[in-house]
Amino acid sequence: MEKAVFVALDYANEQDVAQLLPKLGTAQETYLKIGMELFYHSGSTLVKRLSNAGYHIFLDLKLHDIPNTVYNAAKQLAQLNIFCITIHALGGSSMIKAAKDGLIAGTPAGQGVPKLLAVTELTSISDSILKNEQNCRLPMNEQVISLAQTAQKAGADGVICSPLEVQNLRAKIGPDFLYVTPGIRPAHSNNGDQKRVATPAQAKKYGASAIVVGRPITQAANPEAAYQAIKKEFN
Ligand code: C5P
Repeated sequence: MEKAVFVALDYANEQDVAQLLPKLGTAQETYLKIGMELFYHSGSTLVKRLSNAGYHIFLDLKLHDIPNTVYNAAKQLAQLNIFCITIHALGGSSMIKAAKDGLIAGTPAGQGVPKLLAVTELTSISDSILKNEQNCRLPMNEQVISLAQTAQKAGADGVICSPLEVQNLRAKIGPDFLYVTPGIRPAHSNNGDQKRVATPAQAKKYGASAIVVGRPITQAANPEAAYQAIKKEFN
């Protein structure tokens, strides 16, 4: 997964997915992110079909519930032969540990345990939302570091964070942790609802392990060209 570009398949149906996939390359070299929208429509059947075809699947369901529920959910997801899942670090260390234990318990013999990535603060959360709505007393950088440290101690393999936070996180947590960053916007593209954004080249410079890109590819006039350009810029 060295320097992977995960394409976020934020679609409402499988027809759109089927149209996009041939434009991205072979399954073995393609990293896909499946989030709530597509999963709630097509469920684990689609995930299994894509993972069995050789695609590397990042299943982004952002689990956040009591530890027992998250343990059992992670145990189910571990059976899908996927690369990684996400949880919210805000769920706390017991919940994060439960997710890890569930992944280990649910992984079939002979398969790799899916990586556990913790979402720190969503990249759509601004400093003012953090302060005025989440009532957090820490500035964004410190809050993200604190959540990432909690996640690491509880057994997560990495974090989802803004590219703007990777340098700080690497300095505090070190190289043996994955720093996966959405909030990627090539120069001159529309930020949409994302707030803490960076270009693929900036994400690379800051040390992102992998990036997640949705609309700049899926809504581009030429998704294939947009994907290739982003891959080139990030690598
Ligand atoms: O279209 P865009 O490039 O903004 O898509 C980013 C993707 O990454 C979306 O699927 C979104 O759910 C996901 N994501 C995010 N911020 C996080 C975690 C995941 O934008 N902190």
